[in-house]
Amino acid sequence: MSSAEGRSQKVIPSQLLRGQKALVTGANSGIGKATAIGLGRAGADVVVNYVTGRDEAEKVAEEISSFGVRAAAYEADVSEEGQVVAMMEWMIAEFGTIDILVANAGLQRDALLADMTLAQWQKVLDVNLTGQFLCAREATKEFLRRGVVPEVSRSAGKIICMSSVHQLIPWTGHVNYAASKGGVQMLMQTLAQELAPKRIRVNGIAPGAIKTPINRSAWETPEAERDLLRLIPYGRVGDAEDIAYAAVSLASDLMDYVVGTTLYVDGGMTLFPGFATGG
Ligand code: BGC
Repeated sequence: MSSAEGRSQKVIPSQLLRGQKALVTGANSGIGKATAIGLGRAGADVVVNYVTGRDEAEKVAEEISSFGVRAAAYEADVSEEGQVVAMMEWMIAEFGTIDILVANAGLQRDALLADMTLAQWQKVLDVNLTGQFLCAREATKEFLRRGVVPEVSRSAGKIICMSSVHQLIPWTGHVNYAASKGGVQMLMQTLAQELAPKRIRVNGIAPGAIKTPINRSAWETPEAERDLLRLIPYGRVGDAEDIAYAAVSLASDLMDYVVGTTLYVDGGMTLFPGFATGG
């Protein structure tokens, strides 16, 4: 989805993240793309990570550059240790440092349990969970080395772990994905506990149903969208900008006292709407 669709990001204050350097993984499409653009609008310089979809990633970087900040696309598979290490080295060499990591890259490989291959299980855990571990570890090394620079931010670094309502809601046919996001929640909380004394803020965002390529089949026909809306008390399917706004806010000093929290951005999906009339 292009940023021209959905709502305009122009409401984001352009000085909020001025001078900060952000890395967004999986930023060539969907939530990662909108978040990278949002951080750029807020004044951050942005590295747009991608693993496939180079053209789209370059376009995202171009759009961000048009806001008068620096942006570049960088290819790396977040589940490959050597590639993550190289990406962080490159970012530090080219951008000077990192202040904000949005560990967003994620995918689905859906199947019922009896049909799920080990490869499907492993791929999802590798990208969704191990990828966040590797990126968080490499970013943290730089946060610890550099420490707080008060003119830039009150904290030494911010990590935002992109999770899902499925860190809480079990999901038949998606056991690999739900298990990975349950893992992301505990990764996030444990890192938050470990790193808060170093003035590094780790938080999570748990999107609900957001219109992106990952869940196209859940919203692209009117029938599918009607079924989906039964799960969303607020009565609309989210768009990627909803998540971008949350990420920009969480990354900023406006949220400096928010540590180890998951922000659910889900139109009330986690309110278990079936219980409004049942139970
Ligand atoms: C999944 C989507 C799904 C949504 C709500 C997300 O984490 O990636 O496919 O529509 O959760 O169920």
